[in-house]
Formats: sequence, structure tokens, C-alpha cells
Amino acid sequence: MKLTVIGCGYLGATHAACMAELGHDVLGMDADLDKVHILNSGRAPFFEPGLDDLLAEHTASGRLTFTGSYAEAAQFGDLHFVGVGTPQRAGENAYDLSHLFSAVRRLAPHLHRPAVVAVKSTVPVGTAPRVAEIIEEAAPAGGKVQVAWNPEFLRESFAIEDTLRPDRLVLGFDAERSWGEVLLRQCFETIIEAGTPTIVTDWATAELAKASANSFLATKISFINAMAEVCEVAGADVGELAEILGHDVRIGRSGMRPGLGFGGGCLPKDLRGFLARAGELGADRAVTFLREVDAINGRRRDRVVDLAREQLGGELVGRRIAVWGAAFKPNTDDIRDSPALAVAQRLHDLGAAVTVTDPKALDHARKVHPELGYADDPVAAAEGADLLLHLTEWPQFGHVDPEQLARRVADAAVIDGRGTLDLDAWREAGWSVRVLGRV
Ligand code: UGA
Repeated sequence: MKLTVIGCGYLGATHAACMAELGHDVLGMDADLDKVHILNSGRAPFFEPGLDDLLAEHTASGRLTFTGSYAEAAQFGDLHFVGVGTPQRAGENAYDLSHLFSAVRRLAPHLHRPAVVAVKSTVPVGTAPRVAEIIEEAAPAGGKVQVAWNPEFLRESFAIEDTLRPDRLVLGFDAERSWGEVLLRQCFETIIEAGTPTIVTDWATAELAKASANSFLATKISFINAMAEVCEVAGADVGELAEILGHDVRIGRSGMRPGLGFGGGCLPKDLRGFLARAGELGADRAVTFLREVDAINGRRRDRVVDLAREQLGGELVGRRIAVWGAAFKPNTDDIRDSPALAVAQRLHDLGAAVTVTDPKALDHARKVHPELGYADDPVAAAEGADLLLHLTEWPQFGHVDPEQLARRVADAAVIDGRGTLDLDAWREAGWSVRVLGRV
């Protein structure tokens, strides 16, 4: 098939490369011409494991190209995926849908023949009819362009695997679904034939699928982090508690790791966007609990700052603190709403001299937080430190020898915000160790 992907950020670039991997001819379109240039050279403008290889392979084979032109995209194929960003509006909980509407407005006037516009961006429920309206008004092909809703559930750092082998496909249509469904089923044929559950539904359910999935995932994380708060005062161990709970298949272990909580470009803003939209719809009572989910998440960051202050005898001014981690989670260079950087920033604001390290996210962190100190590796970051904070659980950090590191720091004290360090080894090496959710 010949298809396009409008918007080539984390979601769109991955989707484009994976569609080429499935055998389609793909044209990626992005308004940012620098990004288009990088992608056409077979590289990703961000770090995602395996994506560079996939882009290199398929740009070289000619199956995958990128453009900055909407006209070219409209001409290229009849199936257009839209994966532009829908960030949180500044100073509000609601989504900023301006990029989505602008992309659709700019694509529509070039749609001269019947086509399917399949939106993947995360949106508040009720957005699909607005997209359809814009297209109906602005596209020369008018009502012959169908709007489909195809929410994306990929996780950064597993993006390729999640796209090629998703745990489900959701296809949302209005009453007129026939051609759109045929085209999307054809596009995802390999995935569907592999036995992937495929749910065909209406627009609103497809939109809600994403909002509710992310809300549930956030709730699971905040549930175990709420238990961590209780463990801290009750003298219990949240790591062992999570394991005990996880053996119950109805609860499950995955997505319930206690620690510094969730960040990134999705869970936090999707929670807030859902709250805002439910309020508009008059269903706010149904999701009020999500406010608490958000609040619990924020308190984990406060807790690390409090523990750091306590560890340093109540005085942060001028104290040297090493922070391991800048990305919002391991195996990405994404620092959007990174819990690690939020803590680093707060400690800096309170007067500490903070040095951050991260295997992939330092360039982004330097740009957004030029006031923080940076070091290229975990040992250099910890040199002379009064306190070490382990805030993003990159596997490399677990390989640092605590015994050798103890000789490089001013004070061998560590707070493990993710609970993944080998605590016995660190204690044996003479470190004083604090872990969130454990005494
Ligand atoms: C999340 C969802 O998991 C995807 O299904 C969804 O498609 C995506 O948002 C999106 O909306 O686009 P992602 O933000 O890439 O994916 O990351 P997750 O792996 O879900 O992690 C989110 C945050 O929660 C990270 O900060 C992570 O450290 C934290 N987390 C995750 C925990 O604290 N504990 C856990 O058990 C799991």
C-alpha cells in the first residue's frame, strides 16, 4: 500500500518506519524541515532503540521517504495517518489541539480524491467529529474522505516492538465505516493475521480507549506509590509488597514498579486532559480520583527532596548532589516532565550544587536546564558528592561498582528513587542507603 504519516515525532517517525517494515510504501510528512532532512538521511532525530537501523534500511531501499509538503503527502496515497503532538495547554489541564487541527486544515485542501484520514494522536473524547468537519469543509473530495480513529498504545523505548506486535488494534469509525475499515485492515494485515485482537468501534470509544488506558496505567503506578507512603510510616517494604501483590494474576506485577513515579510526554498530560474533558462533559465526579493519582505522583518527588535534605542534616545550600538520570525513564532521551530533572531542579533552587548524568538525555537536559551541572558518566557526576540520587533506572547505573565509587565521593550516601540498585552490595561497600518506600 502507499500511505503517509503526518507528523514525525516519536510516534509518527516510528509508525512510518514500521509501516515500511510491514512492506508498505511510506511518505512521512513533517512541517519541521530539519527533522525531514535528518529522517531522509536514515536517522532518527531522537533516541529510540532500533529506530535508526529501521530508518536506514527503509530509506535506503526507497520504501520510506519524508517530505515537508502537504500537497505531496495528499498526492502520494489514500491512507493518511496523523500522529502530530497534542501537548498540555500552557497553564491549563486541557490538551492543546492546535497542531492537530492545523495539520488537518493544511492537508484537507489537497485531498482531491477519496481517502481515509486515520488519526493516532491522543485527544479528548469528542475530537473526531471536529476533525471530520474540518475535512468535509476544506477537502475538495468532501464527504468522500473518511475519518478513522486508530489510537496508538506504544511505549517509548519499546516503540518498534509495540508497533509491530501490539497487544491490540483499535479502529474507530462513524456510521460510514466500510471503506476505511477495509483500507486499515489491509494496512495492518500482517499484524491482524498474527492474531492481534482487533476491535472495531465508534469514534468516541476509540478516543476514550487511549485516555482510559493511560489513566489506568497511571493509577496502577500511583496505587503502589501510595502504598510506599504507607510502608514508610509503617516500617514495611514496598518492593516486597509489590511482589506479593503481583502474584495475584488479577493485579499483576507489570506496570506497578514503586519509585519516583511517572513522567514523560503522555501519562501526566493525559491524566490532566482527561480530567479537563470529563469536567466539560459533566462527568467530573467519575474521574475525580485521577486528581489524587496525580497528587500522589507529585508527592514522590517531594519525598526525595525531603529525604535529601534530611540526609544532608537539613542544609542543602552549597551541598554537592549527584543525580543519576535525566530521561523520564531508561532507554529514551525524552526529558518531558522527567521526575529526575524535576527533583534536580528543585534541589538546585534550594541552593544545592547539582550534577546530572544520563547516557542519552544530556543534550536535551542541558538545553532546557542550563542552570544545572552535567557530567558525562555516573562516576564523574558523583566525584566529590555529598549525596547521590539514583532517579532513572538505566541498566548502566546498576553496573557501577559501589566500592570503587565510595572512594570518589565526599560522603557515601545514596537515595535510590527507583529501588533497582543492588542494595546489599552498596551497604556492604559502606554506603548509607535510603530507598523510597522502605525504611
Ligand atoms: C505510556 C503508555 O505506557 C503507553 O501505552 C502509551 O501509548 C504512551 O504512554 C502514550 O500515551 O503515547 P510511555 O510514556 O512511553 O508510555 O512510558 P511508560 O513506560 O508507560 O512509563 C511512563 C512513566 O511511568 C515513566 O516515567 C516510568 O518511569 C513510570 N513507571 C512506569 C513507573 O514509575 N512504574 C512502573 O511500573 C511503570
